[in-house]
Amino acid sequence: MNPNKALWEKGDFTEIAAFMRQSGEELVKSLGITTPMRILDVGCGDGTTALPLARLGAEVVGVDIAKNLVDAGNKRAAEAGLYRLKFQEGDACNLEGISDHSFDLTLSVFGAMFAPKPFDVAKEMVRVTRPGGRIVMGNWIPNDPTLVAQILKISSNYTPPPPEGFVSPVTWGIESNVIERFGAAGVPAKNISFARDTFTFNFLGTPAGFVDAFRKYYGPTMNAFEAAEKKGQADELQKELEELFNSQNKSQDATSIPATFLRVTVAVQK
Ligand SMILES: C[S@@+](CC[C@H](N)C(=O)[O-])C[C@H]1O[C@@H](n2cnc3c(N)ncnc32)[C@H](O)[C@@H]1O
Repeated sequence: MNPNKALWEKGDFTEIAAFMRQSGEELVKSLGITTPMRILDVGCGDGTTALPLARLGAEVVGVDIAKNLVDAGNKRAAEAGLYRLKFQEGDACNLEGISDHSFDLTLSVFGAMFAPKPFDVAKEMVRVTRPGGRIVMGNWIPNDPTLVAQILKISSNYTPPPPEGFVSPVTWGIESNVIERFGAAGVPAKNISFARDTFTFNFLGTPAGFVDAFRKYYGPTMNAFEAAEKKGQADELQKELEELFNSQNKSQDATSIPATFLRVTVAVQK
């Protein structure tokens, strides 16, 4: 089994995505979509951004490597009566079956960054976007002090070293890497812009309760706990994560944690 697919099918990311909906909607609003468009959402999960895009009247295709998330997305789309929104299985490294230049906007919010071959990902996103169209990515930033970068960093301290040649997903949060990857796909640096943006996780419970959700449902954290348990370090990992979540929580009576990400916008040349 493809380890990238196995990682994301392992847990149930819908249980985390449920606390990301508000920021997903805000991100979609900030894209300034006015005319009906064809939009591809890569690494779409169960539709945190794909559903709000479809509600704007766009024709949306969501592609994700995890079958359980594709199924969950199609269920949410049907329940919402969004018949111009389809989710399908696919790999950001090779968007086979998707025609060249077929989308006005290719979006990937914390999705394509997890695919193992970043140069192929950039090439594919450029290939499927029409000349004059745009690519927008949201990428977690390495060593950023906020939530998700820290979860990934803490988790990696407990898991065995990755195989040789593994490229860390958070390298997509470094501007020079983004320029190099899209440059290799034929996009000049002047067509790429960057901004720091914020995504807020809102959980109706305590920060410790939110850690438990990550422990039960979020593939990278599940793997970290499995490895930590083998070494008798699970309590230590739990404590580290609880300290992190508590220190970042901005809510008095529930959990609200803002996380910083790098927003990348690529203008695909006419
Ligand atoms: C952190 S989740 C984000 C999901 C969604 N964009 C959201 O904001 O709720 C990462 C997503 O990327 C997907 N993913 C990981 N590697 C992928 C790949 N190679 N191709 C397509 N999707 C991938 C995962 O299955 C998962 O749904």
